[in-house]
Amino acid sequence: MQLFHQVTEFAPALYGGKGKSYVGRYLVLYFYPKANTPGCTREAEGFTNLLPEFEGLDATVVGVSPDRPEAQAKFVQAKSLKTMLSDPNKVLARAFGAVKENDGILRSTFLIDRTGIVRAQWKKVKVDGHAQDVLETLRTLYDSDRRINPLIAARRARRALSDAPVSREEIETLIEAAHLAPSCFNNQPWRFVTIDDDETLAAVKETMPKGNYWTAPASAIIAVASKPDLNCQLSDKRDYYLFGCGMAVSNLMIQATGMGLVAHPIAGFKPVVVKKILEIPDDYVLIALVVIARSGDPGKLSEKHREEELGVRERRPLTDVLIWNRFKL
Ligand SMILES: Cc1cc2nc3c(=O)[nH]c(=O)nc-3n(C[C@H](O)[C@H](O)[C@H](O)COP(=O)(O)O)c2cc1C
Repeated sequence: MQLFHQVTEFAPALYGGKGKSYVGRYLVLYFYPKANTPGCTREAEGFTNLLPEFEGLDATVVGVSPDRPEAQAKFVQAKSLKTMLSDPNKVLARAFGAVKENDGILRSTFLIDRTGIVRAQWKKVKVDGHAQDVLETLRTLYDSDRRINPLIAARRARRALSDAPVSREEIETLIEAAHLAPSCFNNQPWRFVTIDDDETLAAVKETMPKGNYWTAPASAIIAVASKPDLNCQLSDKRDYYLFGCGMAVSNLMIQATGMGLVAHPIAGFKPVVVKKILEIPDDYVLIALVVIARSGDPGKLSEKHREEELGVRERRPLTDVLIWNRFKL
């Protein structure tokens, strides 16, 4: 059984190829066996009665059954119900694993988030109290989705590294995540020279100041390079290549955090020497190196770095950086 479904994948099947998408809203899909039967009526009434609460949490509630549209329409009118979807060939039900071996519908409900990912599911639903149960789960999800994304909160420029290897496959995933960043005119100005051979790693680390001693165990370093004409250069002198590369590295770091890897950007290295080692052409700017490793022992860090590593993250107050309407100094 698949756990994750992109609802948008099924939308064309549902909407005769028009491809309506629920992206941006929560979607509650409940599959029921047959319109106008007692259990299905109680279930549908349960959802309809709580509809204002669901809508208050940006959710659309859709009941799905294999009944023909006419039968569903009668059901909806007779019981003053809301949105129903007719799925006579059980295309949607099958996609969600809501069809039993005997081809009957498995009464089940799926709670899909704003990005199209199934976040909760109920199989073999007992109808009494079910809508309330789904609503409570939605409320919890809604509240947690409005907090800072956990991966953004968890990302840190960690320095406690181990020498355990990071595979090329993992590095490729990081680069793929970086490559999904937005860029002006989709120019994708980032270039990533990835170093994973011992000799080159040693030569690059050799160029770093003493303060970057902690990079010693790292088994991979990604050099981020670009040049102005790889991205938009506007007539008023706004060049976007650095901006684009920054966003790409941000994606990379967040992806690494989710994969349990450290991705730490550094400016402390000799760019001219490193460009030479990596044979990066003269007209490119070597913007940063990103040190990639698995987590290691903070006990091996200097006292200052150990404190930073284990302490709370320091940030200026939000009022220093968030300005409403007019820039005030
Ligand atoms: C462009 C850039 C250059 C950095 N250079 C170094 C560096 O050379 N050495 C180092 O130890 N940390 C370096 N850092 C890490 C920052 O010190 C770190 O991101 C900052 O203290 C905030 O901590 P946090 O990322 O854990 O929130 C760099 C970060 C950036 C974005």
